[in-house]
Amino acid sequence: MNYRHAFHAGSFSDVLKHAVLARILVHLKRKEAPFRFIDTHAGAGRYDLSGDEARRSPEWREGIARVLMARPPAPVGELLRPYLQAVGPHDAEGRPVAYPGSPAIAQTLMRAQDRIALCEANPDEREALIAALGRDRRLSIVSTDGYVALNAYLPPKERRGVILIDPPFEAPGEAGGIVHALERALRKWPTGAYVAWRPIRDARDDARFLNAVAALGAPNILRLELDIGPGPIGAHGQEPLTRAGLLVVNPPHPLVGEARTLLPWLAQTLGRGEGGKQLCDWVTEPK
Ligand SMILES: C[S@@+](CC[C@H](N)C(=O)[O-])C[C@H]1O[C@@H](n2cnc3c(N)ncnc32)[C@H](O)[C@@H]1O
Repeated sequence: MNYRHAFHAGSFSDVLKHAVLARILVHLKRKEAPFRFIDTHAGAGRYDLSGDEARRSPEWREGIARVLMARPPAPVGELLRPYLQAVGPHDAEGRPVAYPGSPAIAQTLMRAQDRIALCEANPDEREALIAALGRDRRLSIVSTDGYVALNAYLPPKERRGVILIDPPFEAPGEAGGIVHALERALRKWPTGAYVAWRPIRDARDDARFLNAVAALGAPNILRLELDIGPGPIGAHGQEPLTRAGLLVVNPPHPLVGEARTLLPWLAQTLGRGEGGKQLCDWVTEPK
């Protein structure tokens, strides 16, 4: 288990994932009733972008820094507001004081009555997560495997909420793990909202993944993607990630329209050269 999210914190794909997560949390807050956020792969919670990892892999410069330095049109600025509120102030280079991971974004945006369940299997990352989030009675942080915990947590007693499935994609077969997790989760809680992140490196593999998701037979699965275009080869000769996507199962109703406003701007702002590409489409239509 070598994955350290600090190398990727604030990247274009974090921006996509976290901006969308923030929108979902905003919509869940429209009702007074409490809800639960479950993060199956939580990470370290907050990331120091002047730290060693972020210096060696400055993905944040092509991600959150561009967003913070840009002047979006008013409707986009309005949609980004909750996410950027969680990101907080930044310096002249567009570097936030500390970039929030998904747990810190939820902690900022959720209310006293809401609950947050976080799974992080790596002991060092978990320790950092506990330190980053501090004492908060809304939180529970466990070391259990995220997929095992998810099965135990569902359905949450609040009967409202959002699940983030964000594995490190270190091991082959991680995409299959997501399909399996969604299959089990939807059987236990078919009406829950789920967000699953994935890197897209091979179009054919991704098409197979999407077919497998569609074959689950669940309606109302939205596909959101960003492709920032080819970039320089990474420090270790590794092809850098340039395309990533989210599946949003049972998105709050306004999310589709919001994504159709937000994603073109993100693609234009985060894209390299000729500009990036984006996609917002249904894997399976709402019923
Ligand atoms: C992509 S990072 C999470 C980033 C975080 N969700 C965010 O958006 O800020 C994936 C995390 O999953 C952790 N992890 C790996 N295998 C796991 C497992 N089986 N259960 C729970 N966490 C795991 C890794 O240690 C890593 O911190």
